[in-house]
Amino acid sequence: MEKPSNTIEKEVTPSQIMQVGVGFWASKTLLTAVNLELFTHLTLCPLSGEEIKKKLGLQSRALYDFLDTLVSLGFLNREGLKDEAFYSNTEETDLFLDKAKPSYIGGILEMANNRLYEFWGNLEEALKTGEPQNEIKHNGASLFDELYKDSQKLKEFMMAMQGAQMGSFMALADKFDFSNHETLCDIGGASAALSIQVAQKNPHMKCISADLPVVQSIAEENIERFQLQDSISALSLDFFEEREFPKADIITMGNILHDWGLHDKKMLLKKAYNALPSGGALIVVENVIDNERRENTFGLLMSLNMLVETLEGFDFTASDFEGWAKEIGFSKVEMMPLAGPTSAVIAYK
Ligand SMILES: C[S@@+](CC[C@H](N)C(=O)[O-])C[C@H]1O[C@@H](n2cnc3c(N)ncnc32)[C@H](O)[C@@H]1O
Repeated sequence: MEKPSNTIEKEVTPSQIMQVGVGFWASKTLLTAVNLELFTHLTLCPLSGEEIKKKLGLQSRALYDFLDTLVSLGFLNREGLKDEAFYSNTEETDLFLDKAKPSYIGGILEMANNRLYEFWGNLEEALKTGEPQNEIKHNGASLFDELYKDSQKLKEFMMAMQGAQMGSFMALADKFDFSNHETLCDIGGASAALSIQVAQKNPHMKCISADLPVVQSIAEENIERFQLQDSISALSLDFFEEREFPKADIITMGNILHDWGLHDKKMLLKKAYNALPSGGALIVVENVIDNERRENTFGLLMSLNMLVETLEGFDFTASDFEGWAKEIGFSKVEMMPLAGPTSAVIAYK
């Protein structure tokens, strides 16, 4: 059958298939540069290939392929070519990948390199067995109990969470109207990154960052670093053990619900509901999947990451969340886009 003459032919090429198919080449190049602290070394002044080679302990072979790949991916600037070249950070890599800056988000990339890369190698097995592929593979333990046994892994995980969520916490602190509220409790607050952003931008707010006992001193150190001890306290709380959360005008949960199965998700929502006053808000910050499950690739991939990392966890759409929240008794649910693929879904009591 002849096609109508005004149909625009879509060019059929293999480029998207190839780009995604070998996407781990690009990913691993960036992760390796972060692990070698290349962007931290480049923050003060541009360096030649020879200088970078010495500082990072590299061999000559592929030195310029490594550096120029990063140039072509948009992570480095370069003046000159090969032996004549000088490399420097781009605006983004200087702000977000220099370890000395508080805006450093490389923690999540370090964890992607040191843990997730290997575990994602078993995605096929995860899909066939429905089982996690990380430290809790075969032992059925809780991810957090297992990870937190090792102080290095605990610290790396805290830095990773902070890196992944920093942009969204900054956006939430700016965008949400805190003026009618006085108290906030962040459940599973990790290093207190959310409370720090909220308290810095809304000095009238009193915040509690609540997490497992082993996390408390890490949160306290961070709160002191920002000199926010008068506004934020760190609390030890196990949300499975405690029957009630501390009462607060606002309860927040960043990437908490996606760690757990539906039964535990609803238990957490119910405890949040009980801790809020009428008119109070539960703010959930996650990579909320679009309702049609077509657009937010990162949210969908995050859900696969929950397969690889947890026993029952999965990510969800705003409409999934609204259903659970209404079932528990929340009266209204709103969505607030934050940074990149992350949104807040806000349920009002
Ligand atoms: C995926 S991390 C999210 C951290 C932070 N809210 C964020 O958005 O980056 C999950 C957090 O839940 C905490 N957590 C896990 N089990 C918990 C429990 N039983 N009680 C309290 N916190 C818990 C972990 O220690 C960790 O900080």
